[in-house]
Amino acid sequence: MLCPFKRLLLDALKDRRAVGAFNVGNLEMLLGIVKAAEESNTPVILQIAEKRFSHSPLEYIAPMLHAAAMRAKVEIALELDHGCTLFNVRRSMDLGFNTIMFDGSMFHVDKNIEETKKIADEAHARGVALEAEIGVVGGAEGGAEMQANCASLSDIIKLGTQSSCDALAVAIGNAHGHYKGVPKLNFKLLEDAHNALPDLPLVLHGGTGISLSDFRKAITMGIAKINIATANFDAIVTASQKYTKTSDPKSSNYFSLNELMVEEVYNTTLAHIKVFNNQEPLESINF
Ligand code: 13P
Repeated sequence: MLCPFKRLLLDALKDRRAVGAFNVGNLEMLLGIVKAAEESNTPVILQIAEKRFSHSPLEYIAPMLHAAAMRAKVEIALELDHGCTLFNVRRSMDLGFNTIMFDGSMFHVDKNIEETKKIADEAHARGVALEAEIGVVGGAEGGAEMQANCASLSDIIKLGTQSSCDALAVAIGNAHGHYKGVPKLNFKLLEDAHNALPDLPLVLHGGTGISLSDFRKAITMGIAKINIATANFDAIVTASQKYTKTSDPKSSNYFSLNELMVEEVYNTTLAHIKVFNNQEPLESINF
């Protein structure tokens, strides 16, 4: 069922776990993610970044995500990830997204607060939640490649207290896509941010490639939402490669490829969910 983003995250923060926010590009990804969520009886967030609309047009993907959320046996929130333009923020709300992640991270903090607050006020008036971002998450979420740049603690506190956001994505050395080396997260900054803003759910973007122990450590320091995109895009590619290698070309068909894609995404998502739920020992998770 569709449920409020803010409550999902506040529950997670209180229970010291994180809600997985999984980016969706097509039907196979959606089916795999929802299957993993239902089987583990865990709420999830389904999202798509504005920069991905050229591959997955909003008018097609939004009704699909909405239908999945309405039918699912678990709680689901729907987010526009990295919303950049007011035009697409409004279109997403019109099409049923109940959270907007407004990415004002390219602005100076004062301008980021001003722009985020404007969108937050409009979103809140429509019962929609708002996630803000501070500092530069490295890599690329469908746009230009960015150099990771940690936020300053004072900017985190300023945006967290003055923008009316319901959750705050903090850049702590994380990056979208495949990490070039071993990810080094600034846990001291994260801990300070959480101590300064203990009731504000913090968000970790660029989840793919972060170690399982770092996920768990981040969760103890206020991370209540973790974004995963590349791992599931890779799962679709892996499924296609496996299919091409193992299936007999004469009997190959879309439907068995579809099932393999759903299965790969399901396995990837379920493993992440188990880590984020922060209950099972990491050694017992088949990652
Ligand atoms: P990854 O692609 O690194 O998993 O990051 C996802 C993300 O942060 C989406 O906003």
